[in-house]
Amino acid sequence: MTDVLTLDGVSAGYGPFHALFDVSLAVAPGEAVALLGANGVGKTTVARVASGLVAPERGQVRVEGADLTGAAPHRFVRAGVAHATEGRSVFASLNVEENLRLSFRRALGARGVAGALDQAFEQFPALARRRAQLAGDLSGGEQRMLSMARVLVEAPKLLIADELSLGLAPIIVDEIYAQLERLRAEGTALLIVEQHVSHALALCDRVLLLEHGTIIWEGPPADAADRVVARIFEHGEAG
Ligand SMILES: Nc1ncnc2c1ncn2[C@@H]1O[C@H](COP(=O)(O)OP(=O)(O)OP(=O)(O)O)[C@@H](O)[C@H]1O
Ligand SMILES: [Mg+2]
Repeated sequence: MTDVLTLDGVSAGYGPFHALFDVSLAVAPGEAVALLGANGVGKTTVARVASGLVAPERGQVRVEGADLTGAAPHRFVRAGVAHATEGRSVFASLNVEENLRLSFRRALGARGVAGALDQAFEQFPALARRRAQLAGDLSGGEQRMLSMARVLVEAPKLLIADELSLGLAPIIVDEIYAQLERLRAEGTALLIVEQHVSHALALCDRVLLLEHGTIIWEGPPADAADRVVARIFEHGEAG
């Protein structure tokens, strides 16, 4: 089976700054992979490369075997890659429904909007109750839900989720992870970037540990706990 995502010897950075060095990874269809590591090691940069937001300086990015190295982000979306970006990636001055309509129109065209909206409000009842509220006035947890609802419309082949749980109450994190479980059960592969590792370890099949822009370890979650604790706890946070 062709991997849904492949990074092959990827180096990438921002102008003169090099963030990733020869990173190779693959995510199989339906597989859940956790990408863990301390602050600033390059996790978000890997996520950006994997969704076309950052073009690699060297190496190749493939989605289901098709070479998308250097392609624009919308081509990754069309190929089935959804990226819930780090931070509060919503349009603050639009309300909840307008945010969703905008994303759905882009992804599905005008005729897909109504159905997608129903689906999103069914998946996230908290958003349905706040459909007329400005996204900028939502709580942190609600904004994360809105970013997820925006990308989950088409059961993507791969969902890249960057720090979905950051700054959220445990009960909201549980809710968000329940959504990830559901997606996974429907066959979506997951690339989960987290510093709060316990949820990620519970959900994922495989763990990649990143340090200074390089994957330094790869293995099953059961073997990851000690290493991850050693690498991340000393920097502050872990599950
Ligand atoms: N837009 C940018 N311009 C310049 N440097 C950047 C940019 N984005 C990230 N970097 C740098 O690249 C390195 C890797 O950053 P990245 O955001 O990938 O780390 P991370 O592992 O996601 O960190 P965190 O856990 O804090 O989110 C950091 O040193 C960061 O300062
Ligand atoms: Mg990050």
